[in-house]
Amino acid sequence: MNNFKWWQTGIIYQIYPRSFQDSNNDGIGDIPGIIKRLDYLKEIGIKTIWLSPFYPSPMHDFGYDVSDYRDVHPIFGTMQDFDRLLKKIHEHDMKLIIDLIPNHTSSEHKWFKESRKSSNNPYRDYYIWKDPKSNGKEPNNWLSYFGGAAWEFDKKTEQYYLHQFLKEQPDLNYQNPKVLTEMLKIMDFWLAKGVDGFRVDVICNMWKHPKFPNHPINAKWNGKVPIGKYVLKYTVNQPGTHKIVKAMRKVVDKYSDRVLIGETYLPYEELLEYYGNNDECHMPFNFHLLELKWKASSIKKKVNDYEKILPEGCWPSYALGNHDNKRIASKVGTEKQARIAAMLLLTLRGTPTVYYGDEIAMKNVKIPKNMIQDPPALKQPEIADIVGRDPERTPMQWDKTANAGFSDNGVKTWLPLAKNFKTNNVKSLEANKKSILALFKALAKLRSKNCCLNSGEYKYVPTLQKDIFAFIRFVDDEKLLIILNFGSKKINLDLSKKISGQAKILLSSDMIQKGNVNMSKITILPNLGLVIKIS
Ligand code: NOJ
Repeated sequence: MNNFKWWQTGIIYQIYPRSFQDSNNDGIGDIPGIIKRLDYLKEIGIKTIWLSPFYPSPMHDFGYDVSDYRDVHPIFGTMQDFDRLLKKIHEHDMKLIIDLIPNHTSSEHKWFKESRKSSNNPYRDYYIWKDPKSNGKEPNNWLSYFGGAAWEFDKKTEQYYLHQFLKEQPDLNYQNPKVLTEMLKIMDFWLAKGVDGFRVDVICNMWKHPKFPNHPINAKWNGKVPIGKYVLKYTVNQPGTHKIVKAMRKVVDKYSDRVLIGETYLPYEELLEYYGNNDECHMPFNFHLLELKWKASSIKKKVNDYEKILPEGCWPSYALGNHDNKRIASKVGTEKQARIAAMLLLTLRGTPTVYYGDEIAMKNVKIPKNMIQDPPALKQPEIADIVGRDPERTPMQWDKTANAGFSDNGVKTWLPLAKNFKTNNVKSLEANKKSILALFKALAKLRSKNCCLNSGEYKYVPTLQKDIFAFIRFVDDEKLLIILNFGSKKINLDLSKKISGQAKILLSSDMIQKGNVNMSKITILPNLGLVIKIS
């Protein structure tokens, strides 16, 4: 093996704990449920689990409103369960990354309960309080991501507090150094327990412009999601943020072999800043592929742009899905293209993060109006279809029994199951040697066995075909050519002038194509991906 770290070479798998496996039949997933499924995760080639929030919370934003950073919500289990999970993960030779939510707490957190008591409470400055304008209105034009103003008036002390998300998620005030000290201590608490790292929630929004100016109008706004009306010039990626991230990295670096990952929805130039000078995030997420239309031309351009701009020593990190975005299988439309997506994610240079269920091509589930749970959808029913995140958070489909093996028969699951779970589930796909799950496993295996895939170089192969994305991954004399056909037409490629040597198909996205390949005439069937060994 080489000198690369586990967080570089291994696949990360995101578990949204409410939706993965229910063990006590309350219709909500939990930690003992996850423990039950570790063998499965190991079996499909996962190295690292990223666990979305499991902390005590009133669940206004399903755990992203934390009321105690050092405990476990009883709905998910106990601290003993968490410790057992961590131990078992390590026994499986896997790693555990947890979600850290430093931008805001729950309004039920003891700091906020104190803070709102009086203007001279010692915790007052833990949050961002401002006087109303002379007309009684909000201090500025900042909006909440979830609808409405980002300011809530608190009658008791006649001031507004800032919340970039729900009013039940007040923003912490990092101009008060005590807040950072508290957050670093929380990180210490979990690192000392042995967690292997953090995924830091809205890492770019922690520092606000100290003068709180109005955001400028966004001339490109499409008139749909209200927060898009402004350019978030004074809340996102403020220079002060980097001081906080550097302090977080220092804590992580006190422990051996841990990782800091940032949630960074940013243009490339700004995203790069979150690597710092190898003293901020080990990996800020690159979400650009997830945000793009599913077209070879756009995807290859984005990958190539990133490859060009990334300084040496900065390691890429890609995701095609998460709990805030439409599922990849729904986005790309067909299972054949979902297979191409899996092949792309698991063969690019950089760490892939897989959202639970994407390995079986789970799709967004249409949620009946009366079952909507996600706050931005509830608060903005007229745009629920655009902002609602319930559809990508439905229970994992394990088997064909009544509740898909997520909860027992007769239990009402917290979100409805996909209608197709009887055929689209882990158990039936495991029985099919050519299923998308089988493909996922084969890709994961290839990735772990071939250094060129898990840590080698990337070289783009131009083809003049707009539907084809081709690239080579290589290290020393190990070389793999990946060709992905995003289109619905068969394409013949002549790569003989660019690539020489013997070529043999190692894996095809339909799990059918095999054999030697003639570089002067490579036939790629519609919607097909190939991994070809060059020797
Ligand atoms: C980003 C998280 O991914 C999302 O689910 C959450 O609602 C917001 N941050 C607020 O914490």
